[in-house]
Amino acid sequence: MNGQPVRDRRATVPDPAVGVGHSHAKAILLGEHTVVHGTPAVAFPLPALPVRAIARRGLHDTDFGPGAAGHFRFSVGAVGADGTESGPRVAVEEALRRWGLGGEPVEVRIDCDIPLARGLGSSAACAGAAVRAVADLYGRIVDPGSLYELVQCGEQVAHGRASGIDAGAVLASGPILFERGIARPIAFAVDADLVLADTGVPGSTQQAVAGVRRRLARDPRAARGQLDRADALITSAAADLAAGRTAALGAAMLEFQGLLAELGVSTPQIDELVRAALDAGAFGAKLTGAGLGGCVLALAATGTAPAVRDALRRAGAVRTWTVTAQSLRSSPTPIPEREITS
Ligand code: PMV
Repeated sequence: MNGQPVRDRRATVPDPAVGVGHSHAKAILLGEHTVVHGTPAVAFPLPALPVRAIARRGLHDTDFGPGAAGHFRFSVGAVGADGTESGPRVAVEEALRRWGLGGEPVEVRIDCDIPLARGLGSSAACAGAAVRAVADLYGRIVDPGSLYELVQCGEQVAHGRASGIDAGAVLASGPILFERGIARPIAFAVDADLVLADTGVPGSTQQAVAGVRRRLARDPRAARGQLDRADALITSAAADLAAGRTAALGAAMLEFQGLLAELGVSTPQIDELVRAALDAGAFGAKLTGAGLGGCVLALAATGTAPAVRDALRRAGAVRTWTVTAQSLRSSPTPIPEREITS
């Protein structure tokens, strides 16, 4: 040994039996829950929180070490494959079935930097990365509409009933307006940054979606009123976002937070973080994602994001992320409009 670091040959020799796929987190600006019942919603991708998937043919007995949260593997397509039903696994099985490869033994390893159960789309992002990895493994080109559909197959398992907003946003490269099953790019024209704050409390999307459905079903007339209110609010807020009316967008976020609280998905920790963001000068703040824990999203005038972030941390946020207006304006590629069949 001459003290030189030993290079791992496996890391440098390309392995044709391996496929790789990527995706990323998302955040919903407006419209979570009501989107399940037909309203529009606005969401944006979070490329700073990525997921990487690696797919290999066959069933392997590789030890990936202790599975830290977000780092896991699953196998499909053969006797002995692990039987846990998860969104990514369902999406991969459906992909293989559609490609005439049902029953093929494949192992997928996921490395997910997205905190789980925090309303940041980890299940959809893991499914998207997994399907891309398996497509890469078999040399398949998957068009955006088919990829969306496959992620949605997994999301129906993860959410109970999924609107498609998460699948649309984790596959998008810029902010989207999701309306009547179609995801379209929307301009982020407000002069403000977004600060995300994690309450540290995991929330179950399935439980939250089921709770809102029960609440709406209890009084259909009141529910119609709430959903009409949400629809009008999101539609005008999307116009505010695209036209650069920052204060109006912040007010709409706050009003939507009130509606989400009426629907039973806010919590004392969320309320506390919303208050802290407003006290620090944010234009608006609300929960993002399914709620019952998870994250809060605050709209802060450019330059004031650090003060809002510090206030959120003092109020108990376990971690924060800032998404600048600039990064949301420079969407690298246009998002193809896609018809959504959920
Ligand atoms: O918390 P998440 O990332 O699972 O977001 C769910 C968004 C909902 O509107 C609550 C559900 C859906 O399918 O639209």
